Amino acid sequence: MNAVGKPSKHESAVHHVSGKAVYTDDQRQPVGMLSVYPVVAPYAHARITGIDISAAATVEGVVTVLTAADVPGKNDTGVIVQDEVLFPTETVSYYGQAIVWVVGETDEAARLGAAKVIVTYEALEPLLSIKAAIAAESFHNQAQVVCQGDAITALAEADRCLEGEIEMNGQDHFYLETQASWVIPDGEGHYQVYASTQHPAETQVIVARVLGVTSNQVTVTCLRMGGGFGGKESQANPYASVAAIAAKKTGRPVRVKLKRSHDMTLTGKRHGFLGQYKVGFTSEGKITALDVVLYADGGWSLDLSPPVLLRAMLHVDNAYYIPHIKVTGRIAKTNKVSNTAFRGFGGPQGMIVIEEVIDRLARALNLPPDVVRERNFYHGTGETNTTHYGQEIYDNRLDRVWQEAKTNANFGSRQAAIADFNRTHPYNKRGLAITPVKFGISFNKTHYNQAGALLLIYTDGSIQLNHGGTEMGQGLHTKMLQVAANALGVGMNRFRMMPTSTDKVPNTSATAASSGSDLNGQAVKDACETIKARLSPVAARMLNLDAAEDLVFEDDWIFCKTYPKTRIPFLDVVRQAYDDRISLSATGYYRTPHIYWDEATGKGRPFYYFAYGAAVSEVEVDGFTGTFKLRQVDVVHDVGESLNPLVDRGQIEGAFVQGMGWLTMEELVWDDQGRLRTDAPSTYKIPTICEIPEHFSVHLLTRAAQDGVIYGSKAVGEPPFMLAMSVREAIREAVAAFGNASAVFLAAPATPEATLWAIEQVRSSSTQPAAAPNPQLSTI
Ligand code: MTE
Ligand code: MOS
Repeated sequence: MNAVGKPSKHESAVHHVSGKAVYTDDQRQPVGMLSVYPVVAPYAHARITGIDISAAATVEGVVTVLTAADVPGKNDTGVIVQDEVLFPTETVSYYGQAIVWVVGETDEAARLGAAKVIVTYEALEPLLSIKAAIAAESFHNQAQVVCQGDAITALAEADRCLEGEIEMNGQDHFYLETQASWVIPDGEGHYQVYASTQHPAETQVIVARVLGVTSNQVTVTCLRMGGGFGGKESQANPYASVAAIAAKKTGRPVRVKLKRSHDMTLTGKRHGFLGQYKVGFTSEGKITALDVVLYADGGWSLDLSPPVLLRAMLHVDNAYYIPHIKVTGRIAKTNKVSNTAFRGFGGPQGMIVIEEVIDRLARALNLPPDVVRERNFYHGTGETNTTHYGQEIYDNRLDRVWQEAKTNANFGSRQAAIADFNRTHPYNKRGLAITPVKFGISFNKTHYNQAGALLLIYTDGSIQLNHGGTEMGQGLHTKMLQVAANALGVGMNRFRMMPTSTDKVPNTSATAASSGSDLNGQAVKDACETIKARLSPVAARMLNLDAAEDLVFEDDWIFCKTYPKTRIPFLDVVRQAYDDRISLSATGYYRTPHIYWDEATGKGRPFYYFAYGAAVSEVEVDGFTGTFKLRQVDVVHDVGESLNPLVDRGQIEGAFVQGMGWLTMEELVWDDQGRLRTDAPSTYKIPTICEIPEHFSVHLLTRAAQDGVIYGSKAVGEPPFMLAMSVREAIREAVAAFGNASAVFLAAPATPEATLWAIEQVRSSSTQPAAAPNPQLSTI
C-alpha cells in the first residue's frame, strides 16, 4: 500500500480514455447560459477609426455587445505590467486581436451578431520580425546582462574564434482543449469562475481587476485542463475576464470557448528567438569565451517575457562550463501575438544556441561533436562546476546520465555502423547524436516558490484533498494522492481530489516551472503531518500507551512501533477524535529554502537543484526530399526517486515528442502582412504516433534520490523537452554526411524544406575550400 514510488495509473486515466472526464466546458450547463464570440481585427497593426455595433442587435438571439465602455474596472489584463488592453479602442496591435465581443443566447447567435459589427481601420506598418524590431529599436525592455569573467578580453585572446547567429521559430501549444471559461454570477455581486487556467489565483486577481471588485468576490476553480503546456499560465485570464464582464452586464451565466482557429490566432506562443554569438575556443575544442546576445520575440505586450528571457539567459550554458561569458538579453516588441510560457520557459531557446555553437566549433576543428560536448561539461568542484550566475552545481550528474545513455545506446559501435551505411548510400544518410540536458528547478521569482494545501477528514473516514496545483494531464493530482496516502498511512481510496479552487487554497503560484509536485507535495505532506499530530494522542489513549511517540500510521492502521500487533483502525481514531472535539481539517504550507536571486547583479542561487538527462537519437534523412525518419531514441533521465515511474515515463516521452515537434515539424508562418497562415491542424503539423520511433527507450536514472525534495523525487514536466535537441543534432550529422563542409547550418525547425536547403549548402560547399562566401561562415 506504500503509494509513493508505485507506477499507479493516472487518477483520471479511465475517464480520459472513455470521455467521461469533465473539463470546463463539459459541465452541466446552468439555465440561461450565454455565449460570446469575438470580432477580430484583419490587420496586424492599425488605428481603429470607428466601431459600429448597431446592426448586431438586429440579429435574433444577440443579447448585447461588449465594448470598452462595459468594463467596470480596468480595461487591462497584463500580468507583470499593465500593458495588455482587453478591449482596444485606438490601436490594433496584432492580427486577429479581438476588438469587441458579441453576447448571444447561443454560439451561433453570437457568431452571426459578430459578423454584423462594423469596425473601420486605418492600416499601419507592422513590425513582424525580431530583426525588423531591432532596426526600428522597438523593445519592451532595456538590455539585460548576466556575465562571468571577461568575455570580451578572453575572445580577443582566444586561439580560435567563430561568430554567427541562429534564429528559431516559436511553437503553438496545441493543447487539445482550447481556452475556455464559464462565469456564473450569484446575483449578490459574487462571481464563480470556472476556467481552464494553470494559475487560478492570478485569474482571480485579473477578473477582480477588470470587474473592479475585490478578490474575495471572485472564486476561480479549475476542474482539470486538456493540456496547458504554459499556454494557460497567463493567457487564460483575458477569456475569463470577457466572460466575467458579460456575466456582470447581463446578470446571467456566460461561457467562452475559443474555436481552434481563434485559439491559434489570438493566443501567445513559445517565443521565437534570435541568438548572435562570438565564441573563443582552444584547438582541443574547449570553450574559453562566449559573448552571446539573445533576442526574444515578445509580441505586442509584455506578458511573461521577462522571466522567459531570463531563463533562456540562465540556460545558455546548458551543461557546459564557460570561463568567460557575457549574456545579453532583450525583448523585441512586434505586432504579433503576445508570446508566453511554453514548456521549458525559454530554457530550450537558450540551450539551442550553445548546442549550435558547440557543433560549429567541433566541425571547424574536425572533432566529433559528442567529444567536444563531453570536454566542455561542468565538472569537479569550485569554479569549473559553477554557473555563470554563481550557482555551484553540487549534485552534478551530467557524467552519469551521459555515460549511461551512451552505453545503453551502444553509441560507439553504432557510430561505426552508420559511417559504413553512409559510405554505401549516396542518397540517404544516417546521423547519430547525443545531447545533454541540465535544467534548473524553481521559479526564478523567489516568492513564487511557495504552496498550500487543505485536508478535510469526515467522520466516515473519507477525505477531501485540496492543494494549490492544477491538473493538466501531467499527473500532479495522482502524485499528490500518493503523497497524501503515504504521509497519512491510509489507502488512496479514502481520498477525493478536489478541483483546484481559490476558496480552498489562496494566493497560489501557477502550476508551472515543473515544480507542481515539489511545492504542493510538501504542502500536502505538511497538512497530513498536522493531522497525524492531532490524531496521535487520541490513538495513544485508545491503545493504552503512555505517550504518543513511536506511533506508526500504515495501511489504514495505527500502532506503536514496538507493539505492532496491537493496532487500531484509522477510522476508529477519526471517530474518537471527532467525539473528543479535535479538528479534522488542516492546512499545509511550504516554501523552498535556500534560494535567492539578485536582480541587479544577475547572481544568486535561483534554483533549488538541477534536473539532468541525456538522449541519443538516430535519424535517416532522404537526400531527395529532406524528410527524415527517427530510427531510434535512447533516453536516460534523472527524476530522482520517482514518485510514480509510470507518470514520469509518460512525461519524458511526451516532452521529448513535443520538443521534436518544435525542432523539426511545427512551423508558424506569418505572411508579409502579419496574418498567421498556420491556424489549423491542416497547416500546422504537430507530431503524431507516426513520428514516434519504434525503438524509444526511456531509462530512469537509478540510485538518484534528491535531498530535500518530496520523498527524494525530482521535477520532470519540462526538462525532457530539451532531450529532443538530439534529434536536431542527429539530422545535422546526417546532413553533414552528404558533403564535406566545415559547418552545417540547419534552420529551426528543421522542416524537410530547411533540411533540403542545408543538404544543398553542404553539397555545394564541399567542392570549395572551407572559406565559404556566406558571411556567417567567416572567422573573426
Ligand atoms: N503534461 C501534460 N500532459 N500536459 C501539460 O499541459 N505541461 C507541462 C508539463 N507536462 C503539461 C505536461 C508544463 S509546461 C509544466 S511547467 C509542467 O507539466 C507543470 O506541471 P508540474 O509542475 O506538475 O510538473
Ligand atoms: Mo510550464 S511552461 O512552466 O507551464
